[in-house]
Amino acid sequence: MREFKSELIPKPRSSILAPEGKFDLEIGCGAGLHPIQYAIAHPDRHLIAIERTLEKFLKFEKRWKSHECPKNLVPIHDDAISWITHNVANEQLQRVFILYPNPEPKNKNQRWAHMPFLSHLVDKLAKDAELTLASNIKSYIDECVELFADYGLKLKSLSTPTLPGRTHFERKYLKDGQDCYNLVFVKV
Ligand SMILES: C[S@@+](CC[C@H](N)C(=O)[O-])C[C@H]1O[C@@H](n2cnc3c(N)ncnc32)[C@H](O)[C@@H]1O
Repeated sequence: MREFKSELIPKPRSSILAPEGKFDLEIGCGAGLHPIQYAIAHPDRHLIAIERTLEKFLKFEKRWKSHECPKNLVPIHDDAISWITHNVANEQLQRVFILYPNPEPKNKNQRWAHMPFLSHLVDKLAKDAELTLASNIKSYIDECVELFADYGLKLKSLSTPTLPGRTHFERKYLKDGQDCYNLVFVKV
């Protein structure tokens, strides 16, 4: 496993800081369908949702405003690796969502199961915290099932999402008749 070097990670672009205490985090939330639904469905939880692509983030922000800016959801335009590395304390995260990450078929080092950052992210998870990862690519899922244990993540469940879908990508894949997979891991 390659070592994660936090000193090499650039400072975040966003000046928004992490809240005090434990919170939930979504990485790469795209146009924000899931974080908004999640925040509305869980008014007692606090979610930070990060998207680095400006065009998608602006759609997310617009959607957040059109839902009256749920106070328990903070949209952040940034690279999640920078923001988390510099802002989140160890054991501060209760639930993490990585829904339909870029598949990176030709770039193994950019896939979550091979990213040194994953070990750093696991340090940020509270004991018993959950990490949810979804993909429509079975080989991506198989790789996570096989390798996440090396990072101290135990598989709790594997399910197959159904329509209408929680994210824009999930909706599209399910409408196209593709299988989707949802993994929930627990920090051990
Ligand atoms: C395939 S899209 C899925 C978007 C959304 N989760 C969905 O399911 O509709 C992956 C998203 O992750 C974002 N992303 C990838 N790496 C990121 C990073 N390091 N920080 C923040 N966002 C990232 C990309 O910009 C892209 O919008």
